[in-house]
Amino acid sequence: MFPWDTLADVTALARSHPDGIVDLSVGTPVDPVAPLIRDALAAASGAPGYPTTAGTPALRASAAAALLRRYGVTGLADDAVLPVIGTKELIAWLPTLLGLGPDDVVAVPELAYPTYEVGAQLAGAQVVRADSLTQLGPQSPELVFLNSPSNPTGKVLGVEHLRKVVGWARERGALIASDECYLGLGWDAQPISVLHPSVSDGDHTGLLAVHSLSKTSSLAGYRAGFVAGDPAVVAELLAVRKHAGMMVPTPVQAAMVAALDDDAHEGEQRERYARRRAALMPALQSAGLTVDDSEAGLYLWATRGEPCRDTVAWLAERGILVAPGEFYGPRGSQHVRVALTATDERIDAAVARLRG
Ligand SMILES: Cc1ncc(COP(=O)(O)O)c(C=O)c1O
Repeated sequence: MFPWDTLADVTALARSHPDGIVDLSVGTPVDPVAPLIRDALAAASGAPGYPTTAGTPALRASAAAALLRRYGVTGLADDAVLPVIGTKELIAWLPTLLGLGPDDVVAVPELAYPTYEVGAQLAGAQVVRADSLTQLGPQSPELVFLNSPSNPTGKVLGVEHLRKVVGWARERGALIASDECYLGLGWDAQPISVLHPSVSDGDHTGLLAVHSLSKTSSLAGYRAGFVAGDPAVVAELLAVRKHAGMMVPTPVQAAMVAALDDDAHEGEQRERYARRRAALMPALQSAGLTVDDSEAGLYLWATRGEPCRDTVAWLAERGILVAPGEFYGPRGSQHVRVALTATDERIDAAVARLRG
């Protein structure tokens, strides 16, 4: 069963609240797409031909330029960038695209976005959950997923930690896929890209950074993301993806260029999430929940020191729907994940209920 389907009863309970549900579960963006992005999409909507799998030269250049401007990633040539049909698609198929199979091991964080494990399973590869190199022991994974800031915990991996993992992976010939979906949302800690020179020493060999436009530009409905890093790996992915028809539609590619070239709407979106976090975090605490980690990203990782399903039900009685921590790994069994993705009006409603 799809995990979210197990929330049917608590969803119905939250919906029955007289002032309506505040849905902080899935984390889907709610703020309208910026006009400059919609205009770019519309302007490209007449294109009759097939899109290129590699992405237009404009898109590849814009993606590399945005990583430099926004996150200080230097040294990315345009052919080190490849658009994807939303990053969930890339993550779910990456082990398969790389040709991994039953003899191969994929490492994922202990508490993780479930699609890392799904991707390994689709390829028939083995999965190991580990947050540290000591936990991995003698095992030698072919692929290591990192995610900082983390979904679900909001934890940030520091430069030293990332450097250690990169050095270790290089010694063993492992590929690192760093999911940087929430990189721009640093609150109490400054997230850093695995491609940043202070982590990679300017050498992107064996490194991929995965970037989604779903949250930065509220483009979840467009299905827009890209992967960047080791040009040899990007070329390998491109070759397979061409055969498999994994191409981003032309109007979406044009919309991505507009989104990546403009930092103003991205900054405004970040401020919206910052305000919602500033309202929601103390309200959860005043209702007796403890907020752990949550130093960055789009979620608050909270606990009442009880099984997570009890906390989900407790919040649903107040009309607030959140995700049980167990969705993300066994260590999440006493936490819930609270998304910052609701309108200001709905966040205010949640705050009033938690404080009331
Ligand atoms: C950590 C992480 N990676 C990737 C994704 C997928 O994003 P998309 O497929 O919309 O690019 C999500 C979506 O919530 C996420 O939380």
